[in-house]
Amino acid sequence: MNILEIANLFLKDNHTETVQKLGNGHINDTYLITSKSRRRYVLQQMNRRIFPEPQKVMENISLVTEYVQAKLHSEGGMKTLCFLNYDGKKYYTDPDGGIWRMYHYIEDAVSLELISRDEDFYWSAVAFGGFQYMLRDFPAEKLYETLPDFHNTPKRFKDFLNSVKADRKDRAKTCQQEIQFVKSRESFYNILEESHKAGELPLRVTHNDTKLNNVLLNADTGRPLCIIDLDTIMPGYSVTDFGDSIRFGASTAKEDEKDLDKVHFSLQLYKVYLKGFMDGAKGIFSKQEMTLFPVGAKMMTMECGMRFLADYLDGDVYFKTQYPEHNLVRARTQFKLVEEMEENWDQMEKAIADIL
Ligand SMILES: Nc1ncnc2c1ncn2[C@@H]1O[C@H](COP(=O)(O)OP(=O)(O)O)[C@@H](O)[C@H]1O
Ligand SMILES: [Mg+2]
Repeated sequence: MNILEIANLFLKDNHTETVQKLGNGHINDTYLITSKSRRRYVLQQMNRRIFPEPQKVMENISLVTEYVQAKLHSEGGMKTLCFLNYDGKKYYTDPDGGIWRMYHYIEDAVSLELISRDEDFYWSAVAFGGFQYMLRDFPAEKLYETLPDFHNTPKRFKDFLNSVKADRKDRAKTCQQEIQFVKSRESFYNILEESHKAGELPLRVTHNDTKLNNVLLNADTGRPLCIIDLDTIMPGYSVTDFGDSIRFGASTAKEDEKDLDKVHFSLQLYKVYLKGFMDGAKGIFSKQEMTLFPVGAKMMTMECGMRFLADYLDGDVYFKTQYPEHNLVRARTQFKLVEEMEENWDQMEKAIADIL
């Protein structure tokens, strides 16, 4: 079956007129579909390598988008993706097992790849804070954990120790300092899990891919229109969505910058994002939850760094690499950010206290 035929399964008698490639996503294959009546849609084939259980992913997306849609009627706010049905479901399974879904294209929107203005970072934070607000009463435990232990840092640390022990590629001797960096922070990794057990950190719906390009902004005003890329929606903690945004958004350099003198944690961008997230979330977080936001930022950065380092030790089996030390270079940028977060810890906490 070709793409046009698949699009027509969703559009029924409203036949497809044109098909174009869309966007710069790295995970799914995305197409822009224009119908004969000039309406536009997005058709996407899901990546099966990353999502081995796509039905569960679609189940999560259905539950959340339907919930938000119902709320939009009474509360207003940003749009949410609206999926078309095929045969009573929000996706179509092709004869090869490929999963396709189709939803409305958001007109007059831009999705940015880079933060060139603080404002854009602020509005993306408002969007993801707004996501937390919209889903504040949603029973998160109803969602599948489609990527098990995705942000279970204690588990990631155990995996890391196993990689160090196995040392399959005899690389441990080239990164002793970095290994020590991870090991010496062992007591930190349990904080979120323990806070959750103590009832201080509620389970919430998290997006888990809170990149700038996953928020569509109004092309004229720059304000958020819609959050997209919902595949990683799962039960989780607000502070990890926040933290992951800080990890990649509040850094002054690329994730694989070799010159560590260029890599800095920007306290200023952290404050910009924090303000946006809080503005979007409209006060739904408890004081205890809020005090864990700096921990979330450091946790996500540490976790990512240890995953890069573990993959380096394993021989680059998970992350794509362009040269043999690529994963080690990535790990070093993360650890540099962690160091600077630690240096700025009082300020990071003070920014929260100022809001409280
Ligand atoms: N509903 C939509 N309206 C407009 N553009 C969209 C829409 N959905 C996706 N896009 C564009 O397609 C790109 C890839 O889609 P996304 O769902 O983020 O896939 P990936 O998981 O591959 O990143 C987005 O960055 C955006 O530019
Ligand atoms: Mg995306």
